[in-house]
Amino acid sequence: MIRNHQYVRHLLTLSPGAPATAHGWVKTRRDSKGVIFIQINDGSCFADLQIVFEAGSIPEEVLSKVTTGACVCVSGAMVASPGKGQSVELRGEALELLGAAPPETYPLQKKKHTLETLREFGHFRTRSNTFGAVFRVRNALSFAIHRFFQENGFLYVHTPILTTSDAEGAGAMFQVTTLDLMNLPRKPQSSAIDFSTDFFSHPAYLTVSGQLEAEIFALAFTNVYTFGPTFRAENSNTPRHLAEFWMIEPEMAFCDLDGNQELAEAFLKYLITYLMDHCRQDLEFFNQRYEPNLLATLDNVASSEFARIPYSEAVRILEQSGRPWEFPVYWGADLQSEHERYLTEVTFRKPVIVTGYPKSIKAFYMRANDDGRTVRAMDVLAPGIGEIIGGSQREERLDVLREKIREHNLPEEHYWWYLDLRRHGSAPHAGFGLGFERLMMYVTGMKNIRDVIPFPRTPGHAEF
Ligand code: 4AD
Ligand code: MG
Repeated sequence: MIRNHQYVRHLLTLSPGAPATAHGWVKTRRDSKGVIFIQINDGSCFADLQIVFEAGSIPEEVLSKVTTGACVCVSGAMVASPGKGQSVELRGEALELLGAAPPETYPLQKKKHTLETLREFGHFRTRSNTFGAVFRVRNALSFAIHRFFQENGFLYVHTPILTTSDAEGAGAMFQVTTLDLMNLPRKPQSSAIDFSTDFFSHPAYLTVSGQLEAEIFALAFTNVYTFGPTFRAENSNTPRHLAEFWMIEPEMAFCDLDGNQELAEAFLKYLITYLMDHCRQDLEFFNQRYEPNLLATLDNVASSEFARIPYSEAVRILEQSGRPWEFPVYWGADLQSEHERYLTEVTFRKPVIVTGYPKSIKAFYMRANDDGRTVRAMDVLAPGIGEIIGGSQREERLDVLREKIREHNLPEEHYWWYLDLRRHGSAPHAGFGLGFERLMMYVTGMKNIRDVIPFPRTPGHAEF
């Protein structure tokens, strides 16, 4: 360890008699029968550390400030705990109040708060049981993602956040500029904005995906992945959409759509197994508090095959369901959340990979099938969430790709380097993007994406 700090997680494993110094934030304090009980948490594990003091051993002016949210440092020795819930507790000898939290103003008192209320106190919700568990799982999941790819020989590449290309060709980008918005430069004899004086001499945006740049790396390093923030300026106010979210994007040369599906399934199973092994207490909490079938579901996902169906088959199932869909189902329509949930929750009761979507509803870079109307796309759908992964085999043929860029009404000159990759050493390749927060929702059972990211950004909201 870098510094000699004793985490609560570690203190709880010590034997009675061991000297201990604990730091943390007070969850509760109660005084009973000549004993002061203080529960603290330092975020290192779900469990709190119980500290006991003899009444009178802490000066009253200090004790009165040991209230919910206050930060304390306590030294003493671990002892066997007679109470239920823990095998050891800390018998306190000295308490130092590091930071008081006056009850009149500290917003998170002992009573239960709704997740919506907690969201308003993003600077304190981190100290609650729920968000402690959420962010420990998020941390473990990030680590497991890197571990999976590193164990499998993938190169981690940092794709740019500021970009001048629209990776999805969908135009839902945040523009970044240093131009004076009150006084925009115009092109001579025209009302068009003159971006030659902007910071990059060119319109620039926050990236919607690192895929296109990851393709550059896959066509040199074979197997690569990105894991970084991405941005979407779509005005989607739903429990599944963020304006800023994190995406994991593997990209593999010499890989087709079958290999892509295999990777996606193996990857998700690895991550779930890792969490079951490393975050048991936190997952048990989610299971008990938020999603009674969580552990059973995760077990099931880790051990059973995902369903795999072509888009046409998905449409047939939905058409024959007899459901009154809000969004009509017909060959050519995009699958909406209600359809994705029906397939995963009613028809298959597990994750489903849908492949071969109509080309008209998918991005320009997806490889065309010989039927002339579908592309080698795949979406991985999960019960309760819908789409968690979107990916495809990429169009590696220069002439076909140019044609698709034309069909999508995209400016060919913006994609000059992307086309160049098809002119020099092109290769079949494939990849996908996993929405990190969508996966977080799935593995925690949390129902709102705003509750699985530290600082959610959604239309109208960018606090902190
Ligand atoms: O399906 P998408 O748009 O695919 C891409 O961006 C590809 N370039 C990925 C690739 O092939 N490398 O997004 C991928 C995933 C979705 O399946 C979803 O899980 C998540 O990103 N996602 C969002 N998550 C939260 N909020 C949003 N607004 C999201 N948009 C997409
Ligand atoms: Mg998608």
